[in-house]
Amino acid sequence: MSATPQLLAISDLHVGHAENRPIVEGLHPEHPGDWLIVAGDVAETTADVKWALSLLKSRFGTVIWVPGNHELWTTTKDPVQLRGVRRYKHLVEMCRQLGVLTPEDEFPVWTGDGGPVRIAPLFVLYDYTFRPEGATTKEESLAIAHEAGIVCTDEYFLKPDPYPSIDAWCHARVAETERKLAACDPDVPLVLVNHWPLVRQPTRVLRYPEFAQWCGTELSADWHTRFNTAAVVYGHLHIPRHTEYDGVPFKEVSLGYPREWKPRGLPEKLLRPVLPVRVAP
Ligand SMILES: [Fe+2]
Ligand SMILES: [Fe+2]
Repeated sequence: MSATPQLLAISDLHVGHAENRPIVEGLHPEHPGDWLIVAGDVAETTADVKWALSLLKSRFGTVIWVPGNHELWTTTKDPVQLRGVRRYKHLVEMCRQLGVLTPEDEFPVWTGDGGPVRIAPLFVLYDYTFRPEGATTKEESLAIAHEAGIVCTDEYFLKPDPYPSIDAWCHARVAETERKLAACDPDVPLVLVNHWPLVRQPTRVLRYPEFAQWCGTELSADWHTRFNTAAVVYGHLHIPRHTEYDGVPFKEVSLGYPREWKPRGLPEKLLRPVLPVRVAP
């Protein structure tokens, strides 16, 4: 039990994998005032997303969710066959009914240890600009990926409707997000939460560099310096780690697939504290 409430984060719960479900069932607050950020890739079906988020909401007073690519997939396993924006809106509506906050809500302010900070759940997607060497366009980038046999499943299941492409949807989200961030009081630092990393650097350690094109957009590269940012929380890469860019902490908080966490073992603290904790003198 921690002495004071903490702002905690996790991502990539992937509860469609049976072995990840007991892990989610084992997630509890350390303090009744803890808040929990769930940074995308909860599951592929709406029923599984609802199961995980309602369980977590029954334990944490405040739960904040952002979508990952997996929630947005339209697969034959899900009776909910909505695509693209309509699927996202359906998930947001489900969260509203559960009392879970989303990118469509007013950004909440954390006033506990490390605060005040404004938590900004974002949904920015990607636009194929984290291109592999030798590619100058999306088409060249995708051709290199197909040639290498490294093609993200999003290409088959993530539908952009009514946008013509994922990059077009991403650009609309970027414009809307920049407006919302610019309207925030600059005196209150932000915790930016997005499933995909907001800068390209974390993708440099991917085993397959061709995969980076499905991992973010160059358009958010300066957000952590342009806006007063205390920390950035992301997932998607399934490479949990803490880095710093321009003096701003970036936290990759993923659980990942059983085949990934089993060999390395689960960390002692699955729920990562986002902010530094005040140490009693
Ligand atoms: Fe994931
Ligand atoms: Fe993901």
